[in-house]
Amino acid sequence: MRAPLIAGNWKMHKTSSETEEFITRFLSLVPQTTAEILLIPPYTSLDRAGRMLRGTGIALGAQDLHPEVRGAFTGAVSAEMLVDCGCRYVLVGHSERRHVFGEQDDLVGRKLCAALAVGLRPVLCVGETLSERRDGATERVLERQLDSGLRGLMPNAIADLVMAYEPVWAIGTGETATASQAQDAAAWIRGWVCDRLSRSTGDAVRILYGGSVKPDNASGLLALADVDGVLVGGASLDPSGFAQIVAGTGI
Ligand code: 13P
Repeated sequence: MRAPLIAGNWKMHKTSSETEEFITRFLSLVPQTTAEILLIPPYTSLDRAGRMLRGTGIALGAQDLHPEVRGAFTGAVSAEMLVDCGCRYVLVGHSERRHVFGEQDDLVGRKLCAALAVGLRPVLCVGETLSERRDGATERVLERQLDSGLRGLMPNAIADLVMAYEPVWAIGTGETATASQAQDAAAWIRGWVCDRLSRSTGDAVRILYGGSVKPDNASGLLALADVDGVLVGGASLDPSGFAQIVAGTGI
């Protein structure tokens, strides 16, 4: 049984005092749930959020990490530093890292290894652009991102990963994938894991959908057979909207 995961990626939003206001309000609104809730604020809010979330059952994650353990990498943050702030999860290969910052698949793979080495659970983000979808290349893109991202990982590490299918054309555009597009892509990813690794790994791995998830479409996405949660951007910035999305797990 895969526990649903509801994750909020704040991207470059909220100062640490705004983070504190959000968490105080969110804790007063969030319904009882068996879903796992994950907040992913910017680096500068991690320490404060980590202290506030301790003992609440809500997990903390970071938006990125550097693949090296330490060294002369000005501006970068290591996996160990994230753990030190209380992070349990880290996004790897988010489409904005790939498309705005030019991250390639091999760097994504190195980041996955760095996260796993310190016990952080990576959320590996994959997804096609609009032109790739129009060209019928969605599965080819997912395959390339999974192949090169997961190369070199031990099969038992992959069961600990979370995968997030985030079609680039649905991120921040208000255009959500249809239920069948989201389900087809999630089922394809699960099938890839079953074929390449094992049926039990494929059954265990959690697959999220991300891209214009809102309170009014979350429960439909969460009901899909192979979608085990959502990775929410803009709609996770408002405590009441995000609490409504959690309520959409219906548990
Ligand atoms: P939006 O929900 O704002 O489309 O962002 C999705 C996303 O990129 C989450 O990581």
